[in-house]
Parts: sequence; structure tokens; C-alpha cells
Amino acid sequence: MSLVKGIILAGGYGSRLYPLTIGTSKQLLPVYDKPMIYYPLSTLMVAGIRDILIISTPEDLPKFKKLFGDGSKIGLNISYKKQIKPSGIAESFIIGKDFIGDSDVCLILGDNIFYGDNISETLNKGIFNLKNGYSTIFGVKVDNPNEFGVVEFDSKNNIKKIIEKPRSYISNIIVSGLYFYKNNVINIANNLTPSNRNELEITEINNYYLSIKKLMLVEFGDTVSWIDTGTYASMLKASNFFQDLELKTNKKYACVEEIAFLLSYINENDFKKIGTSMKNSSYGQYLLKQLKN
Ligand code: DAU
Repeated sequence: MSLVKGIILAGGYGSRLYPLTIGTSKQLLPVYDKPMIYYPLSTLMVAGIRDILIISTPEDLPKFKKLFGDGSKIGLNISYKKQIKPSGIAESFIIGKDFIGDSDVCLILGDNIFYGDNISETLNKGIFNLKNGYSTIFGVKVDNPNEFGVVEFDSKNNIKKIIEKPRSYISNIIVSGLYFYKNNVINIANNLTPSNRNELEITEINNYYLSIKKLMLVEFGDTVSWIDTGTYASMLKASNFFQDLELKTNKKYACVEEIAFLLSYINENDFKKIGTSMKNSSYGQYLLKQLKN
């Protein structure tokens, strides 16, 4: 088992996608052929993380449990915790304190989709930095930076500060929803006070690590893309992207069952069982076909 534990934060009201998210969680909405949460889950798996905590709302948590159970079907150890109300991303480390124990932790937002051929190389940088005592954030270039946490650089291109949703233009590099933190993130989160919008801000945690010179920024550059799921249009675009990719490559992306099999977390028999349980869908048929190949 990896020494790094993983948290997927999959709560919130999803109000920017109403009415789609009135009856269900944003992170369970389909992105092409699978629930959105499969994508961040696959990112953690590719990083070699097998101990995973899913945090969601009291109403939605049972739906995630129904989807993944204890995770053993795909060779993972998945546990669950409620977030009573969306009091901020940084609350993950307070809710997840017992789960994290004395490990380091990777947090991924349940609506963040990363795509790239050599994504594992990029993720390994996060793991490597942890071993050297550093926490890591991942920067992406976007056209609409002011909707995110934005990285401000000094004249030598060092990070000066991260500013959450600035009113004016700072830079077009934003902090994506994937973070590798040292274990002391629990204490840092515990000492936060709610911001003006009444949230425990992840950006404050990042700025704290920056102030003690323990923060690394890894920029995705051209190798990994970050796929936005914030609007109806970007959700549709994401679905089309993954459908096109499958048509081109004959491979599914973020297929957690196949990843578990390829990583030898599960054996042929287990994999066949999963495929058979979904044999009426082309997803299940895909899994069974991989066995034959
Ligand atoms: O996606 C990257 C961005 O995520 C970062 O650039 C920002 O620094 C960070 O604050 C965050 O910004 P958002 O405006 O996208 O955060 P949002 O409130 O939309 O929450 C992101 C996801 O986390 C969303 O799926 C809901 C979930 N969430 C959020 C909060 C505040 C929770 O589950 N619980 C919460 O308390």
C-alpha cells in the first residue's frame, strides 16, 4: 500500500449546474460513459494510491457507497465521510483527520478531470516532492483564470502568492483541484478561520506552505490537460472528447476496473465477474473484450 492516502471531495450543492444537480450529485453525472467521479478516482489509482476517502453530502454519500462499496472489487480500500455543509475545500483534512492518520495525503476534487498520456510521470513528481518534505500544487493555463485560484509570479518567475478568484488579471496560471500535502496539513487546516465567503479556503493552505517555503508548483504544460466540468457546455465537450478518444484508440479512459486489472490489483476472475455484471452495457462488453485481447 502506498504511504500516501487519497481524498476525493465530492460534495457541494452543484448549483451552477441546476437543474441537473437538484436530484443528484454533480460528481455522479455522466461524462461520456461513466460517472464523473471515475476520472479523479482513476487519477489517484494511477498515482498508486489505494487507500481512499470519499467525502460528500449526507444525501449523496449513500449513492457513492452503492457505486463503489468498500472498493475491494477494484482492489481499493474506500471509506466514506459526510460533509454536513460545504464549508470549504480545506475542511477535507478536518473531516479526514482519522483517515489520514500519520500519512501524507493527496486531495483531488471530485469534479476535476485530468487527461494525459504521461499523467503518471506528473503525479510521481507530487509523490517525489512529498518524500523531500514538500507539498505540491499543479498549475494549468486557462483563458478564464479569475474563476479559480490564480498563481501570482514575481519578476524571477517564482510564485509570489495564490489569489482566490481575483477581480483583476494576475496571470493565466491557475491552481487545479489536485494537491499533494504533507501530514501537517491537518494542523494547518485546523488553524484556519473561515474566509469572507465563510469557507475554509484551500488557497490559504497553499499560501501557508508557500510562506514556509514548502510548496512546489508543477505546471502541466502540454503533457496533461485539465478538463473543465463547470458548465453544461464544458460537460458536453468533455463527454465528446472521451467518446472521440475511444473511437480513435479503441481504449476507454479512466476505466477504473481495467486500471485495477492492469495494475494487478484484481485477477482475471475478478475482472471477468465485473464485466459479466455489466454485460448488458457496451461498457461491460468492453471489459470482457479486454480479457480476450
Ligand atoms: O477546480 C479548481 C479550483 O477549485 C481552484 O482553482 C480553486 O482555488 C478552488 O477554490 C476551487 O474553486 P471552485 O470555485 O471550483 O470551488 P467550488 O466551490 O466549485 O468547489 C470545487 C468542488 O469541490 C465542487 O465539486 C464542490 C466541491 N466542494 C466544495 C466545497 C467548497 C465540496 O465538496 N465541499 C465544499 O465545502
